[in-house]
Amino acid sequence: MPDTHTPRRPIRSFVRREGRLTSGQARALEDLWPRFGIEPGETEIDFASVFGRVASVVLEIGFGDGETFAAIAAAHPQNNYIGMEIHRPGVGSLLLRLKEQEIKNVRVICDDASNVMQSNIADESLDAIYLFFPDPWPKRKHHKRRLVRPAFIQQLRRKLKIGGTFNMATDWQDYADHMMRVMLAAKGFTNTAGKGKFSPKPEFRPETKFERRGLKLGHGVWDLVFRREN
Ligand SMILES: C[S@@+](CC[C@H](N)C(=O)[O-])C[C@H]1O[C@@H](n2cnc3c(N)ncnc32)[C@H](O)[C@@H]1O
Repeated sequence: MPDTHTPRRPIRSFVRREGRLTSGQARALEDLWPRFGIEPGETEIDFASVFGRVASVVLEIGFGDGETFAAIAAAHPQNNYIGMEIHRPGVGSLLLRLKEQEIKNVRVICDDASNVMQSNIADESLDAIYLFFPDPWPKRKHHKRRLVRPAFIQQLRRKLKIGGTFNMATDWQDYADHMMRVMLAAKGFTNTAGKGKFSPKPEFRPETKFERRGLKLGHGVWDLVFRREN
């Protein structure tokens, strides 16, 4: 008889294929985590106290090794940046960059963005959310793992301020079309490029590592920028 009490495993947007930490990453996680890391806990994060100031807050989901994320934060010292990444070597690399480049306006969460958004981010607290080159999950049977899906998008909408933007980019045409379809059907958002249109690459976004990889493979790149209207 099936055990009806066994909880269903949640569908994850990532596989924990951690690999080895380099010694630099391991040391960064040890030494720099107390300075830049946030342990989400059970309550909402108080951005003013975490950053020691009130400023616009931008969240990036899945920053990879943090190369682009660090560059964006360094170029916009007036903003506060929160990065969420599940992959510890990537978090270690970002911490090293923050120290080397003396970047002060970044804090890091090493956890599943789906959980953290739900439990730790206050409604209407974010000025922008970036999702750049999320894992594409190209096989049809894996599409359910894609981060861009209606329930998650509505969670993100609640966390954005009215007028805040949700920026996405991908080098997979099928995922770009999927993003466009999901966003078209999502209530409360307007496409800043016009209905059904992709955006020009935003000026503030440097080429990312995964974007470079995609371009080398001959992929195109699609940017989408939606604004929360209500
Ligand atoms: C394809 S990589 C892109 C990295 C970077 N944005 C770039 O363009 O170079 C996607 C990243 O998202 C992270 N990721 C996937 N699902 C996540 C989740 N639920 N929460 C946090 N990070 C996640 C993965 O660990 C991976 O580093």
